[in-house]
Amino acid sequence: MANTIKKIGVLTSGGDAPGMNAAIRAVVRACSFYNVDCVGVYRGYQGLMEGDFEELNARSVRNIINKGGTFLKSARSMEFKTVEGRKRAYEQLTKNNIDALVVIGGDGTFTGGVYFSKEFDLPIVGIPATIDNDISGTDFTLGYDTALNTVVDAIDKIRDTASSHNRLFFIEVMGRDAGDIALNSGIGAGAEEILIPEEDEGVERMLESLRKSKMSGKLSSIIVVAEGEKSGKNIFQLAEYVEEHLEDYDIRVSVLGHIQRGGRPSCFDRVLASKLGVGAVEALLDGDSKVMIGLNHQHVVRVPLTVAINGEAKYDKELRRVADITSV
Ligand code: F6P
Repeated sequence: MANTIKKIGVLTSGGDAPGMNAAIRAVVRACSFYNVDCVGVYRGYQGLMEGDFEELNARSVRNIINKGGTFLKSARSMEFKTVEGRKRAYEQLTKNNIDALVVIGGDGTFTGGVYFSKEFDLPIVGIPATIDNDISGTDFTLGYDTALNTVVDAIDKIRDTASSHNRLFFIEVMGRDAGDIALNSGIGAGAEEILIPEEDEGVERMLESLRKSKMSGKLSSIIVVAEGEKSGKNIFQLAEYVEEHLEDYDIRVSVLGHIQRGGRPSCFDRVLASKLGVGAVEALLDGDSKVMIGLNHQHVVRVPLTVAINGEAKYDKELRRVADITSV
């Protein structure tokens, strides 16, 4: 490796995701392994502009692989979206002799990174971390697997009470404009119907499916609703709509909210974080920049950040087919 990089900064930005701590740990330990200094940047790009830094060594990241959240904290900075803000951040980097950055986050984080890297010719590598799994060029984002398991666990519990009372539950899950959490957790928890942003099949389909469920002898039902789904009704309006049209249903609504973002990362996310963290440092030491370290069929790959941000949303139509067949 042609190593001209002596000090790497690492930050987490945007919505936090389980596995971010494990990724920071891997970056810090890879730096230590390759004899490169590492600096933690607190509060994402906001802390970068303010010079909120701390030197990290291999021991600074002990016992964090199993912790949710991010000990470096996270923020969504409006100021970094301006050229002045990014200039301020660059001044902090030069003042502290930081040669390169690893940015851990989602599309907003990567977009900021692309601008910053281009304007100041600074090597930047991204690690995809968001529960939404909405980044192109990687099969999985950090935190998605843990969030899925959290959601399935919550739906299993709701299923218990739904079943005891013969009720229909509408359950809203996160995902912003992506339906990955809804579709996969819906199949995993045996939901009767799943509404996702990628396809709007209309509320009539849902009514029809509930009618069929009743006729087939189902006594309780679960409908998983992605927060970004496109029916034009929010989850409470959807519930009211069904109540008006199918009077014999006793309906409740549950919005899972931010519990989906917390908790101990799954083993899958810890291993993924470790692979991507090591891959990020190695990419920088190889002289790569403006790339995301992703996973493609088990292999760690380097994908241009622009592709990660602008690529086609990956939506698995086969999963919808499987959901329809297994919910009859
Ligand atoms: O991107 C992660 C995510 O949790 C989305 O699923 C959700 O739409 C959004 O962040 C919530 O953001 P905040 O924590 O700022 O309310």
